[in-house]
Formats: sequence, structure tokens, C-alpha cells
Amino acid sequence: MTSRDLTHPLDETSASELAAAGLRLALVDLADREAFDAWLRADMRGFHGRQPSAEVLEEARANMGDRRTTGVYDESVPSREPVGTVNAWTAPLTVPGGARIGSWAISSVTVAPTHRRRGIARALLGAELRTAKALGLPLAILTVSESVIYGRWGFGPATFASEWRVDTKRVRWAGPDTVGRLSFTTPEEFGETGTRVLDAVMAGRHGEIGLTPYLAKRLVGPLAGDPDSDRARLVRYDSPDGEPEGFVAYSVKDGDDFVKHKVEVRHLAASTDRALVALWRFLLELDLVSEVHIHTRGVDEPLPALVHDVRGAQVASVEDHLYVRVLDVPAALEARAYERDGSLVLDVDDPQGFAAGRYRLSVSDGRASVTPTDDAPDVTLPVASLGSVYLGHDIARSLAVAGRIRGDWEALDRLFRTAVPPRLSTWF
Ligand SMILES: CC(C)(COP(=O)(O)OP(=O)(O)OC[C@H]1O[C@@H](n2cnc3c(N)ncnc32)[C@H](O)[C@@H]1OP(=O)(O)O)[C@@H](O)C(=O)NCCC(=O)NCCS
Repeated sequence: MTSRDLTHPLDETSASELAAAGLRLALVDLADREAFDAWLRADMRGFHGRQPSAEVLEEARANMGDRRTTGVYDESVPSREPVGTVNAWTAPLTVPGGARIGSWAISSVTVAPTHRRRGIARALLGAELRTAKALGLPLAILTVSESVIYGRWGFGPATFASEWRVDTKRVRWAGPDTVGRLSFTTPEEFGETGTRVLDAVMAGRHGEIGLTPYLAKRLVGPLAGDPDSDRARLVRYDSPDGEPEGFVAYSVKDGDDFVKHKVEVRHLAASTDRALVALWRFLLELDLVSEVHIHTRGVDEPLPALVHDVRGAQVASVEDHLYVRVLDVPAALEARAYERDGSLVLDVDDPQGFAAGRYRLSVSDGRASVTPTDDAPDVTLPVASLGSVYLGHDIARSLAVAGRIRGDWEALDRLFRTAVPPRLSTWF
């Protein structure tokens, strides 16, 4: 986050829309502790969280002061708490080829249930998109509580996340011999190293974002107020030459039977395949455990190949995860690399205007140049579909079947799809 993000003026369009409804849009002064706490309370209530303790508020304040934080206030009610919240910051998103591009990460979108469906979220999202565009960012990104909300603002699901339940009494290790060293550690001892490991993981796969210290801390160790903090366990992986390359943070819950505890994985991070293999083996071979539950993995998690009985490792769900909203087509498409060369005219429909237009995408030696054109389009698509294919996920055919990509979807797919699918392994 730069001070430019924090000091960029309030969006006047949304401020006047809300003023017409008797509401005030404002940037929260994060130095005003009472105002920041009121905003945090509203945000946590919006997601049906617990009443935050003083310790939870302090931790959030200490760690979220670098986000551009906006509230909507109804001055006709006595409370100082906002009735709408959002925050945003510039996050480095890894794109195919490994570049990390500044993207407007939007989070904490909530509207008080007392003020729902009056257009507050619409005003907040409009303001964020215009702010991102004015800051010159090519993309806005978010993770969602419900899949039905953000398509109307041009966001498309660009990565999918898998959740697994593994019957560890049934599966047997079928992976390679593991190398390196595993050891228990603590968030205090491992925090800084863990953050470095996470950064390597996030830089190493398209779809991942560079994490702020708060987001990293959430994955390594429990935050204040976590009801399971006294059960938290942390195991690090170091390579044979002593390089930290991964960790798993988890807790063990009682089962009905002492030999059938359940393991809940908070996060597994592996910057190398040998770390991934060793950490999986550790989880699958835990004694007195019958189930491992893990979520927010990629769609290419290699788990089935690591066990003898594939049916012991069940996918519990595959869900839309990172949503991408393209704001600047040439900048976004030129920032990523391509695995095949080719040329394509894309006609992008964007009712909100940010990305609308016809563009020729020419890829040579894996690098793109994008120019406006009047040539006949090969492919016509809404901006949300462009967001969905942008990171390389295998989704063009589905969108074509659904009528949300028209024309030569195969040519689009050949250019955009990546051999390794994109993944985002956290929420923000
Ligand atoms: C989701 C939420 C922010 C919507 O706020 P809101 O102010 O009621 O939304 P708006 O009145 O601006 O609605 C804008 C549009 O989105 C639609 N919409 C809003 N929330 C929706 C939902 N949960 N499901 C489906 N459609 C929704 C509205 O119907 C409206 O549609 P339209 O453009 O066709 O008229 C609010 O319900 C909320 O705080 N939910 C709990 C927290 C949450 O889920 N936040 C999202 C985090 S990713």
C-alpha cells in the first residue's frame, strides 16, 4: 500500500448517490481509534463474527492500518458504527509467467442488515472500481462469500479451490521417499521464516497474491481471539541443505474414539514439490487420527497420486475462489506470459465502461502486444468472462457452452490456458 492509495480522494459519484439517500460516504481516519474500532466492529458483525475483544481490535488496528478504509454512515441513527464497510489495497498478483502486478484487492464488503438492498454495496463497489482505475491499476480482485454477488460489477471467477476429506485409516502412502527434515515450531519462533516461505509460494504460482504481514500471520499462527488457539500446532519443513521450504499449521480435534482424532488443517504451504510431498506424508501418517480435512487447495492438488486407495481421499467441494475484474485490457493482457503464440481479436463488453472495446492480442515468443482495432472480432465476451480466463484456468469451453464467450473459444483457450492451473491458497 502506498500513501497514494490512502490519500486518493473520495469517489464523488458514489458520495453523491449515497448523499441523495441521506447517507454519508467517508474514508475512515485510521488514527482515530474510536472511529477505526467502530468500523472494525461493523465489519466483523457483517460476517457474523464474535463480538471482538479489546485484544482482537488491537491486533486488527495494528495490522489493517495500511488499507484504504471506507465507511458509509447513517447520521439519522445514534450509533457511530458505519452501515457499510469496505477496504482495499494494492496487492501483487502473480500472473502467468511469474510477473507480479499491482491489483486492487477489495475486502470487508459488508452492509448492515438494517440497511440491506438499498444500493449501499453498489455505491461501495462502484467507488472502489473507479478508484482503482484512477490509480492506474489494470485489475481489481476479491474473494467472495457468495458466488452470485460480484458478476454484476464485471468480476469473473478466475481460480477455483478444492477442499478434501482424507480417510487416513484407508489411504496408504504411494508417493516417493521423502527427503528433508520436519520439526515442530511456534508462530513466535517461525513467524518471520514462515512469511518468507509464504512469499516464495505466492510468487511461484499464478493466482496467488503477495501477503501483507496480517494475512501471513493468519496462516502461520492463530490470530488473537481464535477459539482453537490452544490446539494450534505448527510443523516446518527444511530441505536436506537446511532451506525452509514449507510448513503446515493445523489443530487436532477429539473424535468419538481415541484412535480417531480429526485433523483440521489451517494452512499448508510448500514452495517446492519435495516440501509438499513431505508435509502430505506427515499429515497422512499421523497416529491416532482418522481424518484430515484441508481446504483452499488448488484444482491440481496431487493428493490422489500420493495414496494407494484414491477413494480414501475425497474432494469435499470445488468452489469459485479468486475473482478478477479487468479494468485495463492492454495493460492486463501484456503483463502476463503465454505458452503458445497466436493472434486474436477480442470484443469486450463492459457496461461499466472501464474495459469495453475491441482489441487485437498478438502473442510472439510468449509475450503479448495489445492494440485497439476495428477488425472483425474472433471472440466476443463480457468483461467477467475475460476475468475468468485471464489467469489461465480451463474454463473457456464452459463459458462458450453457456453463451458467455461467443466465436472461436478454442483459439482463445489455446492462447490463455496454462498447463499448471492458477491457484489462490488463501482468503482476503
Ligand atoms: C452482500 C452485501 C454486501 C450486499 O449489500 P447491499 O447493500 O444489500 O447490496 P445492494 O443493495 O447494493 O445490491 C446491489 C445488487 O446486488 C444484489 N445483491 C446484493 N447482495 C446479494 C446477495 N447476497 N445475493 C444475491 N444478490 C445480491 C442486489 O439484489 C442488487 O441487485 P441489482 O443490481 O440487480 O439491483 C450484504 O448483503 C452483506 O453485507 N452481506 C453479508 C456480508 C457479505 O456477504 N459480504 C460480501 C463479502 S464478499
